[in-house]
Amino acid sequence: MNPEGKRKALDAFAVRLGEDHLGPLWDNLGAMITRQPEHQVKPYLWKWKTIRDYLLESGELLGLGRESERRVIYLQNPSLLKSGKIGYATDTLYTGIQLLLPGEVAPSHRHSQAAIRFIIEGSGGAYTTVNGEKTYMERGDLILTPPWTWHDHGHEGSEPVFWMDGLDVGLVKTLTGSFFEPYHDDKYPLSGPPDQSTARYASGVRAISERRKHGYPSPLINYKWHHIRQALEGLSRFEPDPFDGFAVDYINPTSGGSADARLGTTMQKLAAGYRTQAHRHVHSAVYHVLEGTGYTVINGRKFEWETGDFFIIPPWSFHEHHNTGNQDAYLFALNDRPVMELLGLEQEEAMTENGGQQLVESVFTPETV
Ligand SMILES: [Fe+2]
Ligand SMILES: [Fe+2]
Repeated sequence: MNPEGKRKALDAFAVRLGEDHLGPLWDNLGAMITRQPEHQVKPYLWKWKTIRDYLLESGELLGLGRESERRVIYLQNPSLLKSGKIGYATDTLYTGIQLLLPGEVAPSHRHSQAAIRFIIEGSGGAYTTVNGEKTYMERGDLILTPPWTWHDHGHEGSEPVFWMDGLDVGLVKTLTGSFFEPYHDDKYPLSGPPDQSTARYASGVRAISERRKHGYPSPLINYKWHHIRQALEGLSRFEPDPFDGFAVDYINPTSGGSADARLGTTMQKLAAGYRTQAHRHVHSAVYHVLEGTGYTVINGRKFEWETGDFFIIPPWSFHEHHNTGNQDAYLFALNDRPVMELLGLEQEEAMTENGGQQLVESVFTPETV
């Protein structure tokens, strides 16, 4: 048979396979097993002022109760909405920003998604309860609510409190493992005095009574900003990491692994004027600017940020950060690195061309629909 006849015969054969819900791998191997990560996730950036204004408006429109358990406005990555991925920042990560007003209670529930909170603004008195441990939320704190732990939020203070929620919504949906359960009461019973775990573990030690416990969930649930800041000051006496500046992972004190088993969390300090080298990695991230002014170049596009803003680093995308201000900048990031590492999927590559820094080809501006 000549080559053309052979191709026609194979095409006809593929049609017959399709009729019986089968397929020829020789035609589709490249689409299934790509040479590099392929995805629809585009970088995006949201301004804090826009989010904050909308949240305050929602505070006037919406009360809290069992009909609306949380007053949250989520980041919708426009590139993922096209494929119906509602509430996706990346294919694995969700990020919402929550507002709690004085006197309110966001009722207790639990779910199989892992969750973290990063406190953006508030003058004190707001708290989260995790399986009966009450912990107060102050600006810059990271709070864990591990999968399937009961959690509610309340507010004894006098000013609105805003925080970032990070959950592995897309990951759990892909793995078809989503469960949710409301608690029969608004508040889960308290197990003791507030901030027990901070008192026991916050200095990077563990209580001797916990020696035999190893693994997840982390016994420490609140990583206080003043401790993290102190750790970054210590690191600042040495050379910065070329890709991340002075940066730390939040860890589980019993194992040294990621604070949450599935959600990775980092804090990085970029000294005034510091510009990192570009690299890319399989894990994706949602960044929140705790403090500072600068920009991040992602695949040749410049994303300018200031205090409070959020932006996305998609998988396998070159990125570098530049602090253009005259103060230190602090960037918090939520990522899916622990999952990628656990599954043996994580890879990292430094940019070698152009002295390891990207050429800026365009500048991001927000798109309105
Ligand atoms: Fe929740
Ligand atoms: Fe990175």
